[in-house]
Amino acid sequence: MKLPRHVAIIMDGNGRWALKRGLPRVAGHYRGAQTAEKVVELASRWGIEYLTLYAFSTENWRRPKEEVEALFSLLEEYLKSKRRKLEELNVRVRFIGRRDRLPKSLVELMKQIEQESKDRTGLKLYLAVDYGARDEILRAVRKLLESPPELLTEESFRSYLDLNDAPDPDLLIRTGGEQRLSNFLLWYLAYTELYFTETLWPDFNEEEFKRALEEFASRERRFGGI
Ligand code: FPP
Repeated sequence: MKLPRHVAIIMDGNGRWALKRGLPRVAGHYRGAQTAEKVVELASRWGIEYLTLYAFSTENWRRPKEEVEALFSLLEEYLKSKRRKLEELNVRVRFIGRRDRLPKSLVELMKQIEQESKDRTGLKLYLAVDYGARDEILRAVRKLLESPPELLTEESFRSYLDLNDAPDPDLLIRTGGEQRLSNFLLWYLAYTELYFTETLWPDFNEEEFKRALEEFASRERRFGGI
């Protein structure tokens, strides 16, 4: 089967999953983190080269303070407890997004995890934390304003972006039933195949992941050609 090199995922539906069960929204995020772990394992096992997960967006700050704090501490605890596993799976981890508004302890952990995993040769995992594509594009523009405009090309612009060392995603999966991009990876999604499923993120599993990959394999990509 033709596999995508780079899969990006909008992990939506944690809150609804919890509410349906009469649980607090945070319980949905907790289950969502377990799904993320499973998906990292599957992607590694199947030989997908790049995986990018949307963990927290620049718009998620609008949520109640308790939920925002719970998400950061979940992320921190989860990353800490999965360091060994990421090592066993030979996963290289990088974070995209802004770091200036995140808790110091989380930023410190992110740096350590990037550093300790930088030479690993397996799956390249990108976690988007306080990430928004418009924010990313503006940060890039600010950096390049000093350089002569005639030198600006798609390639040179790309070098200022957060995902400058990965190919564009071939497949974007969004769970949870909404069909929108929510400010995720806008520059890179120009020719990405989009896959939407009603399944809420905590219920997303191996079978669902395979279905998305099969759908991708069946699509004909022309990149604007004929
Ligand atoms: C969207 O569901 C999900 C998020 C805003 C957070 C995603 C975070 C995780 C899955 C956990 C941490 C991740 C890792 C990589 C360990 P929602 O709350 O918008 O759900 P709703 O649309 O049903 O309200």
